[in-house]
Amino acid sequence: MTRKIIIDTDPGQDDAVALLLALASPEELDILGIVAVAGNVGLAQNARNALKIVELSGRTEVPVHAGCERPMRRKLVTAEHVHGPTGLDGPDLPEPQKKLEDKHGVDYIIDTLRTEPPGTVTLCTLGPLTNVAMALVKAPDIAPRIREIVMMAGAYFEVGNITPAAEFNVYVDPEAADVVLTSGVPITMIPLDVTHGVLSLSHRLEGFARIGNRCGKAVSEMLNFSERFDMEKYGNEGAPLHDPCVIAWLLKPDLFDGRKINVTIETTSELTRGMTVADYWRITDRPKNVLYLRSADDDAFYALLTERLARLP
Ligand code: BDR
Ligand code: CA
Repeated sequence: MTRKIIIDTDPGQDDAVALLLALASPEELDILGIVAVAGNVGLAQNARNALKIVELSGRTEVPVHAGCERPMRRKLVTAEHVHGPTGLDGPDLPEPQKKLEDKHGVDYIIDTLRTEPPGTVTLCTLGPLTNVAMALVKAPDIAPRIREIVMMAGAYFEVGNITPAAEFNVYVDPEAADVVLTSGVPITMIPLDVTHGVLSLSHRLEGFARIGNRCGKAVSEMLNFSERFDMEKYGNEGAPLHDPCVIAWLLKPDLFDGRKINVTIETTSELTRGMTVADYWRITDRPKNVLYLRSADDDAFYALLTERLARLP
């Protein structure tokens, strides 16, 4: 049975790889639509990048919508220092011919959840949670209709990557993350604790290039670009690969370990803004609102990614 998903994203090289992994997996995943959000770079550029990736994959029937231009209450913080000025530096991809859909991304999420049978649509978030939170605020009736939200967000044991306390996607829009985490919707959180164990080592990137198709080449060029910054930062032989873990979890949950816990978002302190306070040892009575993943089988993850990218043009 295919699983219906909406991917909310701010591509971003690692978002792009996640999109390609999903686009390469039609037997398991029915991508109803892609929604762009402001994050790694501004909304317009993220939306353009999403169109480029859909075209690269040859799956041009998948609709792309643009969502919110800024976080709910904060000024947008971007990450050109990691992803380059275009958000997708590395490969030389053509300007997209495909156009964005007219409907705003938040309304697209709401309308889709109201139309599809309850409990059938999974939201996959690869960026700040602005669009999903705005949809939940505008249309609270959608909450019980969402099957699950699977998010790349947060960190606890690996602390932060944009500040010492916070992971980028939560830091950019902590109020949105708070709305989503307190919504009662089933949530799987894939934090830095997982993604920092999934390193894009050089032999893995060479493996993508060796596939011999345009998507493998583009992925190798993207990750060769984006990993420079992280390799210097962390002193590792390869960079973490974040967002594709969301799709890999849907395809092969056995590759991951985790437990149900409470996660609460820090929204008031400037010092620890966007911290995901994870009650990993179940010290409090706070409700267990999140399936918090802690580790992944990195060899199996890269084998899956390589095998799926080989199915694309
Ligand atoms: C997250 O931040 C973004 O820069 C990446 O695309 C990923 O979604 C990692 O903290
Ligand atoms: Ca992202």
